[in-house]
Amino acid sequence: MSEIIEVSSDWLALREQEDARGRSRRLARAAARMLPPGPVVIHDLGSGTGSMMRWLAPLLPGPQTWVLHDWNPDLVERASAGVMPLDRDGRATTVRTRTALLAQLDPADLEGASLVTASALLDVLTDEEVRAVVRACTTTAASAALFSLSVTGEVRLDPADPRDEAFRTAFNAHQERSVGGRRLMGPSGVALAHRLFLEAGWKVRAIDTFWRLGRHDRGLLEEWFDGWLDAALEQRADLAVDGAEYRALRSSQSRRGALSAVVVHTDLLAWP
Ligand SMILES: C[S@@+](CC[C@H](N)C(=O)[O-])C[C@H]1O[C@@H](n2cnc3c(N)ncnc32)[C@H](O)[C@@H]1O
Repeated sequence: MSEIIEVSSDWLALREQEDARGRSRRLARAAARMLPPGPVVIHDLGSGTGSMMRWLAPLLPGPQTWVLHDWNPDLVERASAGVMPLDRDGRATTVRTRTALLAQLDPADLEGASLVTASALLDVLTDEEVRAVVRACTTTAASAALFSLSVTGEVRLDPADPRDEAFRTAFNAHQERSVGGRRLMGPSGVALAHRLFLEAGWKVRAIDTFWRLGRHDRGLLEEWFDGWLDAALEQRADLAVDGAEYRALRSSQSRRGALSAVVVHTDLLAWP
């Protein structure tokens, strides 16, 4: 098994509310209209602790079974140990889990899917993994695919600072680094998936979606900013001196409630 990149369940919990605010409800409603009559089976790829299921289940008819796929067994175990969300009609959902690498996702693994979903996934996959995911969707599933919250690399900090662009470029390069022999797609993951769906003859609707971080959730703003800057500095050690001053400035602005950030994402709905 290749070396897995650990995502902490604390980070997933911290971002869950903003993810829920950010994802496109318009695309979720469109996906709901494409579902066959229930019972429905929804496969969530790179599910983590089940944030997408908790957000989407109440927007869809049921009865629903969710199949959560992740390479990290601890995260999917938390998902199935938690309280199951109710569907749109108030019925409890049921959940199954599957621990596996998405590079090995086979069309047969999605057999019988009524909908395939993912959230915050495409940018952390490799080219080969994005291809495996789209191939599995377009080969088997006659169902739609809803891939929410893929980062585009665009970040707008307010107030602006002349150093923003250098750190943003360094962060985006970090998102495309090689880890344990895997070269991540970073911000170009969503564009690759979009193109592959079109090449398979599917239709695609893409909508820009946003994280709007600010003083209403300082914890998330500061954790996001620190992770963003740490990654940028890991990529460009030569920015360390500027980075220390920049961090101190941004941190004091945040403490005064004077910092906000918009992180741009794309949500994709694809269907045959
Ligand atoms: C940024 S997290 C998003 C988790 C969840 N979808 C959410 O929105 O909270 C990405 C998830 O994908 C999983 N993941 C990343 N690369 C994977 C791969 N190649 N195969 C299987 N799971 C993967 C990670 O373990 C993690 O849970």
